[in-house]
Amino acid sequence: MNEDYIDFSEADVARWWDEAASSWTEQVRKGLDVYREHFNNPAFFEFLGALQGKRVLDAGCGEGYNTRIMARMGAKVTGVDISAKLIEMAQQEERREPLGIRYVVTSFTDLSRFRDASFDLVVSTMALGDSPNLAKASREFFRVLRSGGELVFSMQHPCFVTKGLGWVCDETGRDIKLTVSHYFDNRPRVERWKFTYPPPDTEPFVTPAFYRTLSELLKTLISAGFILKDLEEPRPSAGACKKFPKMGKWRKHAALFLYMRCQKPELEQKRSRSG
Ligand SMILES: C[S@@+](CC[C@H](N)C(=O)[O-])C[C@H]1O[C@@H](n2cnc3c(N)ncnc32)[C@H](O)[C@@H]1O
Repeated sequence: MNEDYIDFSEADVARWWDEAASSWTEQVRKGLDVYREHFNNPAFFEFLGALQGKRVLDAGCGEGYNTRIMARMGAKVTGVDISAKLIEMAQQEERREPLGIRYVVTSFTDLSRFRDASFDLVVSTMALGDSPNLAKASREFFRVLRSGGELVFSMQHPCFVTKGLGWVCDETGRDIKLTVSHYFDNRPRVERWKFTYPPPDTEPFVTPAFYRTLSELLKTLISAGFILKDLEEPRPSAGACKKFPKMGKWRKHAALFLYMRCQKPELEQKRSRSG
């Protein structure tokens, strides 16, 4: 993986994702993100639970793949993304097959076009680690949620997917140990990466990544007012690992993803705590 340390603004994030938009959309829609198809999505949607009738904000929705799944599950979904190109792709798909999804180009750190308490649920799949200002985003999520509403998100596991992530192989080339280092190095960087089983001659995605420790993540959410309700470190199924052997190491040795469910306290809870 090549790397480049820079200080990124949200405008930079939008630019990198605009550049990746066509290739990302094509590959995701062809099902080439096999970790999503066979590991992350099955586990995440089980963690998320029923959505029927809920007002959902999909924060960092990309071209809308997961947004459409949530709409098909019966939610009334709004998707926001900082990349105008990705939102354009999402809207094209909404015109082709309308699911009643509203898409807006905006950063999830500025949700000023949405009223306070206008959502039951804020969902974010694999997007919070792509953004420089988690504190601002968390405060906005808290504001647009009704009391008792929840923020549910997935991200790469900060304790294992560090900048120093590496695998130690045995003599047959099988990954037998994970190495972790640079956990406390929170400088953002640009990463060049591909899905695990890319077609030949696929160009890498080039996108910025923001690293935070687990304590920083939790303290940020708690400072915004959230209560942690549940947490999951999913493992791929034995069947998925058989089909995609490179996935097996994430079943055996370490957690690739981290899911959290955080709640905006019910008004009752708030009152009783303040006496
Ligand atoms: C890895 S993609 C995930 C997209 C989508 N959630 C999915 O699972 O297919 C990360 C997304 O986060 C978006 N993003 C990054 N920072 C953002 C911000 N501040 N506000 C809104 N979207 C943002 C990027 O444009 C990109 O679409």
